[in-house]
Amino acid sequence: MELLLDTANLKSIRDAVSTYPISGLTTNPSIISKENRSDFFALIKEIREILGKERTLHVQVTRTDCEGILKEAEAIRRHVDEDVYIKTPVSKEGLKAIGIMARDGFNVTATAIYTTIQGELAAMAGAKYLALYYNRMLNLDIDADAVFRTTASAIAASGLDCKIVGASFKNIMQVTNVFADGAEAVTVPPELLDTALANPSIDLAVRNFNKDWEKVYGNKGISEL
Ligand code: G3P
Repeated sequence: MELLLDTANLKSIRDAVSTYPISGLTTNPSIISKENRSDFFALIKEIREILGKERTLHVQVTRTDCEGILKEAEAIRRHVDEDVYIKTPVSKEGLKAIGIMARDGFNVTATAIYTTIQGELAAMAGAKYLALYYNRMLNLDIDADAVFRTTASAIAASGLDCKIVGASFKNIMQVTNVFADGAEAVTVPPELLDTALANPSIDLAVRNFNKDWEKVYGNKGISEL
């Protein structure tokens, strides 16, 4: 299982990596624009510094033609590092670029995936991660769980070195659903992640345990005994 952050906000990234078991981070042009930074590569490098080399960094291209995508991939790799994942939408031009990048040794994350066939094509073209858009599928009346399940079983049957990263979440149940559907990774906005543990029942349980403890040990903790 892998948990990635879907944000480019430096403060949120710092907070989240100190708390959650984060294995990487994804961006897209909308996420980047929210930070309103003209120095795009400086922002990406700051993100890389917080993540360290042990976590994966997935940066999305903005051009839509194959040649433009390849130029951006070169630029991203030059400014960031060789490990960076080039996040590329699975359009016809995108798929062509994915195949070329994979052959040239780039790490590729295929994105904007709404259908099983998009995922299968990108996996065959050499993408290492497939970003499937759960909530956006639901908004289109697409059976998102079925798309995740069929894509996951196709990858498993093929033996390809490719992981599904569930993306586009509006609530935590959607996140747990895609893991149950066979996704190996999810990318989640930090503010949504925080709702997972904002559960009054957890606090109540802890308070009640402590009340019982105090009956015998007062306010001493285990390390003070
Ligand atoms: O990274 C792309 C994906 O997570 C999109 O999410 O919330 O814009 O549907 P959303």
